[in-house]
Amino acid sequence: MDASTPQNQLSSNDVTEEMVLAALSHVKDPELHKSLTSLGMVQGLRICGGNVAFELVLTTTACPLKDGIKKEAQDAVAAIPGVNEVTVEISGRTLAARVPEREPIPGIKNVIAVSSGKGGVGKSTVTVNIACTLARRGAKVGIVDADIYGPNVPLMMGLTGSNRVSGTESGKIKPAENYGVKVMSMAFLVKDDQPVVWRGPLLDRVIRQFLSDTDWGELDYLLIDLPPGTGDAQLTIVQATPVVGAIIVTTPQDVALLDSRKGLAMFTNANIPVFGIVENMSYYRCPHCDERDDIFGHGGGEAAAKQLNVPFLGALPLRGSLRAYADEGRPIVIAEPESEQSLLFNDITNQVVAKICEMGFATNTEVAPSAATASVS
Ligand SMILES: Nc1ncnc2c1ncn2[C@@H]1O[C@H](COP(=O)(O)OP(=O)(O)O)[C@@H](O)[C@H]1O
Ligand SMILES: [Mg+2]
Repeated sequence: MDASTPQNQLSSNDVTEEMVLAALSHVKDPELHKSLTSLGMVQGLRICGGNVAFELVLTTTACPLKDGIKKEAQDAVAAIPGVNEVTVEISGRTLAARVPEREPIPGIKNVIAVSSGKGGVGKSTVTVNIACTLARRGAKVGIVDADIYGPNVPLMMGLTGSNRVSGTESGKIKPAENYGVKVMSMAFLVKDDQPVVWRGPLLDRVIRQFLSDTDWGELDYLLIDLPPGTGDAQLTIVQATPVVGAIIVTTPQDVALLDSRKGLAMFTNANIPVFGIVENMSYYRCPHCDERDDIFGHGGGEAAAKQLNVPFLGALPLRGSLRAYADEGRPIVIAEPESEQSLLFNDITNQVVAKICEMGFATNTEVAPSAATASVS
């Protein structure tokens, strides 16, 4: 072939690593808004004649957009003249976001706090459904149920009954597990009718134990269901843990009381970013005619989020089936993954994952763009 051969007549022997990387440099990660090549996501590039194969290492195993990214990358490379076949393998490595001046817990990449101004607003509901959504996508997930006043995560996760946790040979506690989510709860440690006074030092010790003496293994995300409110108990936990960000759960009434403002202040004072506000029991969806009734008015949570300058993650309807599934120990994202609530939980989870990706990429030195390709085999 001479130098004047038009591009579209290139033979498959002319496909080079530079051409493939140039094509992939136009494909962006839709969450991080940077090219796959600059993020170091293209690895193990192999070119053999017109056959091109590579691996896309995404920043999270729970990336909801992986099929779209794969197709875009595949199409970009397939459009190079001379390429006959493109094989893309997708893998994921959840980045660990770092919070300044806090020691990470070995093996645990991202700790997320879920908080609310008062009890009964759906904090645990949001916690378990986000956890199960992440686990369904293949992420390694755990929950610390730190709600000393009403530890109901075990109930919602189908983990009631005695002897849920046990000791291991290494002296650690083996957490309970269901739906691919590991759970440690206050409820596992106290008997139903046993009154416990959780004063600061005791609470601090128990929470530390939950975090460091539990055999979590490797976790991409650990969610902490905080006690409701913004008092000492919450502060103790928030200060004792390397939380990368917080989700605040409110109801429309809660918004009016501005409890979320206090919650926001607690995290801001502790230097913890707030991922956003979830408004639960926001409206009523009639199970018979499917009509939406904005019983508490409309847009309160969103307006409050705007006023407080934090993202609004979504509004969840009040619906009896959600409570019924919770009481049965089946989070709605497991029981009815295609339901309106499950899709809303999916969307809320996406926003949290995207934020952690951004934080993780900004603070992670592991990602080295120069290590993008392996040698051609
Ligand atoms: N959107 C909703 N629709 C119907 N019931 C809900 C909804 N959110 C939560 N619930 C129910 O309300 C009760 C309180 O929710 P929960 O998550 O335990 O609140 P918290 O953890 O804030 O105390 C539970 O019985 C739960 O199943
Ligand atoms: Mg709760």
